[in-house]
Amino acid sequence: MAYKKLKRGLIGALVIGASSAAFAADKPKTMTGASAEMLAVTCAGCHGTNGASAGPATPSIGGISAIYFEEVMVGFKDGSVKNTIMGRIAKGYSDDEIKAMGEYFSKKPFVAAKQDFDAGLAKKGAKLHDKYCEKCHAEGGTSAEDDSGILMGQLIPYLHYTLGDYKAGDREMTKKMKKKVNQMIKKEGDAGFEALFNYYAQGKK
Ligand code: HEC
Ligand code: HEC
Repeated sequence: MAYKKLKRGLIGALVIGASSAAFAADKPKTMTGASAEMLAVTCAGCHGTNGASAGPATPSIGGISAIYFEEVMVGFKDGSVKNTIMGRIAKGYSDDEIKAMGEYFSKKPFVAAKQDFDAGLAKKGAKLHDKYCEKCHAEGGTSAEDDSGILMGQLIPYLHYTLGDYKAGDREMTKKMKKKVNQMIKKEGDAGFEALFNYYAQGKK
C-alpha cells in the first residue's frame, strides 16, 4: 500500500518556526508572557491552521481534549509516547505553556481530513468500532469527551503509524484498550484495523 511507504521522518525536515520565547502584547497566558495563540503559530506548518492537519502523517489537533493534549505532549517530552518529531518540539515548551496551548486547541473545531475510503470496509469498520472501541472513543470516535484522542476524521496513514507504535510497545495502551484491541485482533486479524480505519476515514459518523 502506497501510504505505508510514506516516510514519517520527512516531515521533520520542515523548519520549526519562531521560538516559544516570543512575547505577546496582550492577554498573556503563560509565565513567559507568550499567549497560547502565539505559541501555536509554530504548529501550523504541520498541523495546519487551527490544528486542522496539513499532511498525511500529521494528526489534526484542533478540537482534541485539553487533557489528552497535555498527556500526549508530556509523553513526547519524556519519550514515553513514540514520535518522529514531536519529542524535540515538546521539549521546547514549559508545562505551563503546554497547558495553555492545550486549552487553546481544545476550543478550535476539529476538522475531519478529506480522504478516499472504501465504503464496504467502512461499513464493517462501523460495526467493529461499536463493538470494540466505542466505549472509550465515543460517538463513533468523534468525541473529545473521553480524553482519548479523536479518531474519526484522522488520516489513515497517521492511524497506521500510531497503531504500529502501540503494537510494537513503543507507545503504551491503557490496559483496557489493550484488552479490546487484542480481542479484536483475535477475531478479525489485522484486517479489522483496515476496516476500522476506512470507517474513520469517512470523516463523520
Ligand atoms: C515539523 C512538523 C510538526 C510541527 C512543527 C508540530 N508537530 Fe505536532 N505532530 C507532528 C507529527 C508528525 C505528529 C505525530 C507524532 C510524531 O511522529 O512525532 C504530531 C503529533 C502531535 C500531537 C499528538 C496528537 C494525537 O492525536 O495524538 C500533538 C498534541 C501535537 N503534535 C501538538 C503540536 C504542537 C502544540 C505544536 C506546536 C508547538 C506542534 N505539534 C508542532 C508534526 C509536527
Ligand atoms: C477502555 C478504553 C479504550 C478502548 C476500549 C479503546 N481505546 Fe483507544 N485510547 C484510549 C485512551 C485512554 C487513549 C489515549 C491515551 C493513550 O495513548 O493511551 C486512546 C488512544 C487511541 C489512539 C491514539 C489516538 C491519537 O490521536 O494518537 C488510537 C489510534 C486508538 N486509541 C484506537 C483505538 C481502537 C481502534 C480501538 C478499538 C479497537 C480502541 N482504541 C479502543 C482508550 C481506549
